[in-house]
Amino acid sequence: MKMRAVSAQVLLLLLLLELVRARDCTGSSRCTGSSRRYTPDWPSLDSRPLPAWFDEAKFGVFIHWGVFSVPAWGSEWFWWHWEAEKLPAYQNFMKENYPPDFSYADFGPQFTAHFFHPDSWADLFEASGAKYVVLTTKHHEGFTNWPSPVSWNWNSKDVGPHRDLVGELGTAIRKRNIRYGLYHSLLEWFHPLYLRDKKNDFKTQYFVRAKIMPELYDLVNRYKPDLIWSDGEWEGPDTYWNSTDFLSWLYNDSPVKDVVVVNDRWGKNCSCHHGGYYNCQDKFKPETLPDHKWEMCTSIDKMSWGYRRDMMITDVASEYSIISELVQTVSLGGNYLLNIGPTKDGLIVPIFQERLLAVGKWLSINGEAIYASKPWRVQFEKNETSVWYTSKGSTVYAIFLHWPESGILSLESPIATSTTQITMLGIQNDLKWSTNPGEGLLVYLPHLPPAAVPTEFAWTLRLTGVK
Ligand SMILES: *[C@@H]1O[C@H](CO)[C@@H](O)[C@H](O)[C@H]1NC(C)=O
Ligand SMILES: *[C@@H]1O[C@H](CO)[C@@H](O)[C@H](O)[C@H]1NC(C)=O
Ligand SMILES: *[C@@H]1O[C@H](CO)[C@@H](O)[C@H](O)[C@H]1NC(C)=O
Repeated sequence: MKMRAVSAQVLLLLLLLELVRARDCTGSSRCTGSSRRYTPDWPSLDSRPLPAWFDEAKFGVFIHWGVFSVPAWGSEWFWWHWEAEKLPAYQNFMKENYPPDFSYADFGPQFTAHFFHPDSWADLFEASGAKYVVLTTKHHEGFTNWPSPVSWNWNSKDVGPHRDLVGELGTAIRKRNIRYGLYHSLLEWFHPLYLRDKKNDFKTQYFVRAKIMPELYDLVNRYKPDLIWSDGEWEGPDTYWNSTDFLSWLYNDSPVKDVVVVNDRWGKNCSCHHGGYYNCQDKFKPETLPDHKWEMCTSIDKMSWGYRRDMMITDVASEYSIISELVQTVSLGGNYLLNIGPTKDGLIVPIFQERLLAVGKWLSINGEAIYASKPWRVQFEKNETSVWYTSKGSTVYAIFLHWPESGILSLESPIATSTTQITMLGIQNDLKWSTNPGEGLLVYLPHLPPAAVPTEFAWTLRLTGVK
């Protein structure tokens, strides 16, 4: 009797589990569970629904850090400009500042990361409102920020920091419930095996077999990333990189198969066509709503992704331009990935801290209109106030970048109903409004002393009961 009761309970439980699983997978775009297998070709891989966390996150911080942070001059492409392109500015820089036979590898030991405290970085990123962080595990120079077993004497354990930078940052990031993404460059400018494959017109795969595949699998198994931000794909075709084989393993059998998100840089001509979400080109900014999830990556230092000592204040994006770009990106369905370059000793300079904290302060008031929002049926109205819309269920958010001189904001697109209510995020009271035939909705903005205005620019109206 007792036995039978127990097994009935077990049966019921199994039945319930099966029902939950089935519901997760029927028709909805949530079906990323183990039941589905992907084959190593683009039609199959492209059909995988993007794990939901990515679209909800909206804002991430990008970090370019490596041996290029040692010369910290020009840009993270230093080595290429100096020794492949032989640009006079870079040759002179070396002549004037380093001994004659100084090689790029000699920068390695100076990449000390001496003041790198992953928890203070992570505190800053959390305060910036970022929901994901993407770190360069290896840029085109080939130096790995983790103890890669196939990057002999050119990794952060053997040379420079003598630390596992990728692992340490990951631990700090995850303590704060921020998603962790790994940037990885497929190509390495000067790797002998890569140069050999390139000479063979990418008909051989010595480099992919010896370096790329072992490292990609190692990164995934070791650090269980939420995101792989692939780059350096543009010279070889995806068949050379074996991208579809790797991605089918990643989606079917890897330890992160249900959560991992990838971008679109998996081989020549892949970007903007295949993969997970689309980056298209760097700093890509569409004018109208794309029909595929995308991300804009951009850098606070407009001239470089890596830290450079010759950065001038006029090269630094303003708070206003960063926040308006974030708003525009989210309104058009994108994510905004904002880059900083730490110094060789692991510091984030105050101007970058200030910009990140400004985003965080703005999001602490206006985040409701950003995180987990969806594009509305209209994305923007461009006139002197520049209004960008987002939505959440039936709530519409109108973010306006300029305060109209009249104190009356005119919104063309929302249609008022008898239940329409309008508030401004960061302010208690409802706002007065009226409809004006031909002029849409007129919203009477509050008269406030400057100190009581919730943010310096880009204010959000929450509209309910509108169509
Ligand atoms: C690429 O994938 C093919 C087919 O799965 C496999 O035969 C080949 O060994 C792989 N090459 C590398 C370098 O991993
Ligand atoms: C790849 O793109 C380049 C330039 O965008 C184009 O010339 C070339 O034909 C494309 N190759 C393939 C295989 O689509
Ligand atoms: C914005 O433009 C629309 C027409 O495109 C106009 O009706 C509205 O009055 C303008 N708003 C302001 C504040 O000028």
